Amino acid sequence: MSSAKTEAAASQALTPELKAFIAEWKSKPGNLIMVLHQVQEHFGYIPRKVAFEVADLLGVPLARIYGVITFYNFFKLTRPGRNRVQVCMGTACYLRGGEDIILEVEEMLGVGLNTVTPDGEFSIEAVRCLGCCGLAPVMVINGVVYGKVKMESLPGILAQYKKTSQG
Ligand code: FES
Repeated sequence: MSSAKTEAAASQALTPELKAFIAEWKSKPGNLIMVLHQVQEHFGYIPRKVAFEVADLLGVPLARIYGVITFYNFFKLTRPGRNRVQVCMGTACYLRGGEDIILEVEEMLGVGLNTVTPDGEFSIEAVRCLGCCGLAPVMVINGVVYGKVKMESLPGILAQYKKTSQG
């Protein structure tokens, strides 16, 4: 288990594919956002070490990279949990109890929004409209969409993602 962690830490460097992508985009307009998108797609967030590499390869100041990352709340600076819980806070979902869902999930996992549980298993995020408002309130876990979520179904949904004990 800890070897996976070590592996993950060691892999916090641009892959040859990402380097090629940066080389291709280097002189194109809007390249920084495109590159950060690719980086986040690969790592699930923007590791600090990688942000340095991107700055170097694109020839832009690190401050500009962090400026972009913090301006668009799409970009993450910390690794999300193994299970990424995203609760929609778009208007339709908000009106149908999205906020209560967040509060309940926080309570169940014992951590707040934008935080990862100490075991690294879960993180909770509020996200903007996911484009399926007819299903409000909507929650997404690891890309799986849960629509018309009811408070009473939350324990069952989260239980599916909890690590089963060794055996
Ligand atoms: S407001 Fe939640 S999906 Fe649109």
